[in-house]
Amino acid sequence: MAAVSSTAPAQKESTLNDSGSAQIVPKPPQVAKRLEKFKTTIFTQMSSLAIKHGAINLGQGFPNFDGPEFVKEAAIQAVRDGKNQYARGYGVPDLNSAIAARFKQDTGLNVDPEKEVTVTSGCTEAIAATMLGLINPGDEVILFAPFYDSYEATLSMVGADIKCITLRPPDFAVPLSELRSTISKKTRAILINTPHNPTGKMFTQDELNEIARLCAENDVLVFTDEVYDKLAFEMDHISMASLPGMYDRTITLNSLGKTFSLTGWKIGWAIAPPHLTWGVRQAHSYLTFATSTPMQWAAAAALRAPDSYYIEVRRDYLAKKQILVEGLKEVGFKLFPSSGTYFVVVDHTPFGLENDVAFCEYLIKEVGVVAIPTSVFYLNPEEGKNLVRFTFCKDEGTLRAAVERMKEKLKRK
Ligand SMILES: Cc1ncc(COP(=O)(O)O)c(C=O)c1O
Repeated sequence: MAAVSSTAPAQKESTLNDSGSAQIVPKPPQVAKRLEKFKTTIFTQMSSLAIKHGAINLGQGFPNFDGPEFVKEAAIQAVRDGKNQYARGYGVPDLNSAIAARFKQDTGLNVDPEKEVTVTSGCTEAIAATMLGLINPGDEVILFAPFYDSYEATLSMVGADIKCITLRPPDFAVPLSELRSTISKKTRAILINTPHNPTGKMFTQDELNEIARLCAENDVLVFTDEVYDKLAFEMDHISMASLPGMYDRTITLNSLGKTFSLTGWKIGWAIAPPHLTWGVRQAHSYLTFATSTPMQWAAAAALRAPDSYYIEVRRDYLAKKQILVEGLKEVGFKLFPSSGTYFVVVDHTPFGLENDVAFCEYLIKEVGVVAIPTSVFYLNPEEGKNLVRFTFCKDEGTLRAAVERMKEKLKRK
């Protein structure tokens, strides 16, 4: 992630100066070149500012309410039942099967749980295993900005050559002609994220069809991050893997955290045909080897939830979304439509601050609310300077309190 400032720890060392007295000389922080440009993430910075100023956190995307009882009970039971030693590397069989069954329900595709599903430590590890297992140094990979921060950092660890295409407001549509001129025989993969963090955009059927056509024409893989697939409000979610001919070149990445309000569990997975699963599993074997055993058993119980669970989650989030969206409009923000995820992006410029970081700092210190500056989601931070992201994955009281603070204290310039 592009960071706004470094807070890398400086270790202190004692030396003697000319007069013989002790002097503290800070040791410069050390980091390998491939990670040099990634400093403290904005989420950590904003969350610590939030604590300092007692601000309401609508910044980082984790719920302030708990996941369902039946899933927590399943985890407790698994621990009690002694499911506590290393799991099979690519997943507890019961979870691989539950993931395959859910995928069949969602996409109509039959996948072999033993050969095409790999369980990882969150989607973040699925992303890393996919990139490390399938991308060579120097390979071109196309990203759409704004993008989730781990994509750039992980591609940087891989040594990939990132080609970035910007999705622009108001609708963040894919600029297809730019994509046509960027994709080539040198492109190894395109990474898409639908529903999309931070904008809430969902890739349309037409956009996916054209991306699929270009990938087939140029023999390109698709990495598709679908962690918000169950938080689709304005249109139906479409999985790239379900498009004709695409399963064979697609790695579908997902996790439990968002759908089940259990972001701390870090259970994720990658679904891909056997020839691509091979690379993912090779990397996964040496990254983490296996994921927490009892949590995998509980994740299998979660994924077997009846459809009514998923309907209820969407209904609850729609109510929360309405509170935030209506509130932000009344405060005076210009909103961009969000079709999915639990995020909304707004234009902060009516309030007269010079950029998104300055606005977020003002919002925390003077108003008592946290948002995330979107410049951190771009290769070129300038492109995000007018936009900030709010999340509505908070209880209704918290959302209403944040809106009230903004109505009271934020004045248009
Ligand atoms: C788009 C996107 N992908 C992946 C992740 C990470 O998922 P996990 O917590 O399962 O590692 C997030 C988390 O915020 C996200 O927003």
